[in-house]
Parts: sequence; structure tokens; C-alpha cells
Amino acid sequence: MNDPILNSLREALRQSPENAHLRLSIARLLLDAGRYAEAETELKEGLGHNPQSSPLETGLAEVYHAQGKFSVAIMLCEGVIKRGNPAAETHVVMAKSLLANDDHEGASSAYKLAKQLNPELDLPELEELLHGLPGIDTSDLELNFAHGNPNADYDAYQERPKTNFADVGGMESVKEEVRIKIIHPLTHPEIYAAYGKKTGGGILLYGPPGCGKTLMARATAGEVKSTFINISISDVLDMYIGASEKNLRDIFAKARASKPSVLFFDEVDALAASRRDMRQSAGRQVINQFLAELDGIDSDNDGVLIMAATNAPWHLDAAFRRPGRFDRILFVPPPDSEARESILKVLLKGKPAGEVDVAAIAKKTKDFSGADLAELIEVAIDSKLQAAIKTGKPEPLRTKDFLQAAKKVKPTTKEWFTVARNHAMYGNEGGQYDDILKYLGISK
Ligand SMILES: Nc1ncnc2c1ncn2[C@@H]1O[C@H](COP(=O)(O)OP(=O)(O)O)[C@@H](O)[C@H]1O
Ligand SMILES: [Mg+2]
Repeated sequence: MNDPILNSLREALRQSPENAHLRLSIARLLLDAGRYAEAETELKEGLGHNPQSSPLETGLAEVYHAQGKFSVAIMLCEGVIKRGNPAAETHVVMAKSLLANDDHEGASSAYKLAKQLNPELDLPELEELLHGLPGIDTSDLELNFAHGNPNADYDAYQERPKTNFADVGGMESVKEEVRIKIIHPLTHPEIYAAYGKKTGGGILLYGPPGCGKTLMARATAGEVKSTFINISISDVLDMYIGASEKNLRDIFAKARASKPSVLFFDEVDALAASRRDMRQSAGRQVINQFLAELDGIDSDNDGVLIMAATNAPWHLDAAFRRPGRFDRILFVPPPDSEARESILKVLLKGKPAGEVDVAAIAKKTKDFSGADLAELIEVAIDSKLQAAIKTGKPEPLRTKDFLQAAKKVKPTTKEWFTVARNHAMYGNEGGQYDDILKYLGISK
């Protein structure tokens, strides 16, 4: 299947393999396409990064259900339910698997629990159970299932990150902007009010992939100790139900309900692509809904910090750049040598490395993104591991191991600039891409 959505999700996952929500979206596409084995592999890999992730385990249970492995699916769901706060989906997969195992009563009460969490559920094969078995008392069974609070706000993409600015190497000017625009208004609202300074509006980060946009957004939430709601394209495009506008409304409502919160739209171009570029866009309706939510027309976005990131700012509908919307647009360049040093220091924390001359490595890694540097460290560890297996003697990594790895890993940012250069030279309305030109050393 040469599916562009699948490809872009895979690319995004390559940048952040620990992103459980992306992983789930990919598995969902594979599952829908009947590619069960691949979906299973994907989810297991995801569980390697996020052990005991309830959404991932539920996804895996669904894949087992699809493969006819009902008992395994039931066991997995039971585990998730016992841990507490299961999602409606967990109960649905449980119900379907129980039904497939001919346990009608169990299936019926599992489906009831699912409907408590999501009253809009309407799955014909399960609805039938409710109507077909009116007299059965299922209260005992519910006790077995309902360990968590059924009304607890369960969410696959909501988190409270521990990551903060200390985990982000370099990016000093971006950090400073975020402090002024987002953190200070939140920590000193009275001072901003005293000077009649309007707060609100969002920050858009753009630049080549792997240079820390997503990391920065997560770290911002960690910095202000707020909830982080990470929305990736797949959440909103809603390929399954086709209710993107409602999803958007729900997402903003959730962010307002859990403020202070950082509401982050990753790969926002997929959502807010201009009409010209409708191939990748979610459609005019969605754009309008998004703009209305940004403007806080029906409700107030106070305490909701809105951030977005894109590798392709030129696809973005210009309406998003108006004041009060994404009016602070920040270029996140590849790290310079000094930034690479700090990134390497951050990334080497907790790795089996001895004394390492990060400055020397930084010098040899021009054009490397943060993600490329992370890759370099993995490559160095891998080759050291192989050597240790041969000699039977594990040794810490040294500078030369990284320098050798630097020859094997190719920097990925150059490719982005070949595209960006054209947009910056020929589509630079209002000087919006001056930063790119400056970076490339092209004077106007
Ligand atoms: N400035 C940075 N400091 C530390 N690590 C970084 C930095 N930039 C990138 N990385 C590493 O690269 C990975 C991918 O970065 P990410 O934030 O997802 O990039 P982007 O969103 O710009 O594509 C991060 O998870 C992190 O391991
Ligand atoms: Mg990203």
C-alpha cells in the first residue's frame, strides 16, 4: 500500500519512535488494511518504548481479535482494565472478543461499560446484545471489569511531561521567545495586565525535521508544569469516522478543561494547508473550525498555550498567521556547533560513555540535526556492542567511537534546505522566511 498518510506517519515516527499515538495511528491503518502481522509488530515495538501503555495494549488486543486470537485479546484487555482508567475502546475490544468466544453475558456487560464511557457508541453487533438480553443481571460481571473510575478522563495523548528546557540542547533564542510569549504571561498575569499587554496567540515552530520542534513543545509544558496535549495530524484527520470538526472542538474543549495546558499541533500543515494545497489538507470546513477555535469565538482560550510545528510552513493557509493566531513564527534551524555540543551532552546522559570530547564530535557533525546526533550515538553504541561481544569485554564509549560513527550517519537537514531555499527566495511575502535566507547566507 503506497499510502501517503501512512508514509508521512512513518516518517514522523522515525523522528520520535516513542510517540505512542503515532504508533497507534499507523497500526490502525495497517489493521484496517488487513495487514495484521505488520500492525502487531508495530504495536509491540511501541510497547518496547512505552511498556504498559494502555492505548497500545488495547490496540494490540484489537489486532489479536482481528486475527481470531480471542483469548489473548481478552487477557490483554483484562490487564488494561485492572490497571484502571480503561478507555471505551478497551471495553469494546473486550466485548467483541467475549462475544466471539460465545460469552454473551460478559460481552454485554463489557459493552455497557464501554457505553458509560462513550454514550455515542453504536455498534450494531453489540447493541443487539443489550436489546436481546433484557432480564440478565450483569452487576457481578461489571464488578470484575470496572476497576477504574469509568468517568475518569482517560486520554491517549494527554500527558504531564517531565521533559523541560534542560533537556533541550541549544535553541537559546527559541527558549527566550517561548519564555516571553508563553511562560511569563502565565506566571505573571498581573504584570501583563498592568501594562495592558494582550496575551494569547500561538507560536509556530518551523524548520527541518529532527531539530527539536516537538521536543521544544513538550519541554515547554514541562517547564510550566502543565498538561501537554499533543495532537498529530492523524488525530484530527480522523480517517475512521470522518468527524474532524467535532474532534477539533473536543480537543480545544479538553485543553480548556485541563488548563494550564499546552495544546500542541504537530505537523500542523496537514491540518491547516491552504486551499491551493488541498491534496494534503483536511478541507475548508476543518480549517474554518480550527480558526474559530483559535480565535476562541465561543469560549475563551485563557490558560491554553497554543503551539504548532511544521516542516512545511509554505503549505500553511495565510489566515493562520493573523494576529492572535500563530502570530509568532519561529525558525528552528539545525543546531550550530555549540548547540550540537549541548545536544550531545543531553543525549549522552545515562549512556555508557566515558570521558568524551563533545566539542570534537560537534565539529565533525556539521548539518546534523538533533535526531541525527541521536542516531549517531545509537550507531556508536551498536558497533561498540558488537566489539564487546567478540572480546567479551564491555568498554565505555570514547570520542573516537563517535567520530567513526559520524562518518556512517548522513546529516538529514540539507535536503530540507533545497526545498526551503526556493520558497524563501520566491515566496517570501512580508519577509516571512528572512531567517532561512540569513541562515543560508543569501542576502536580499
Ligand atoms: N535541541 C535538541 N536537544 C536534544 N535533543 C534533540 C534536540 N533536537 C532534536 N533532538 C533529538 O532528536 C529527536 C527528534 O527531535 P524532534 O523534536 O522530534 O524534531 P522535530 O519535531 O523538529 O522534527 C528528539 O527526540 C531528540 O532525541
Ligand atoms: Mg516533530
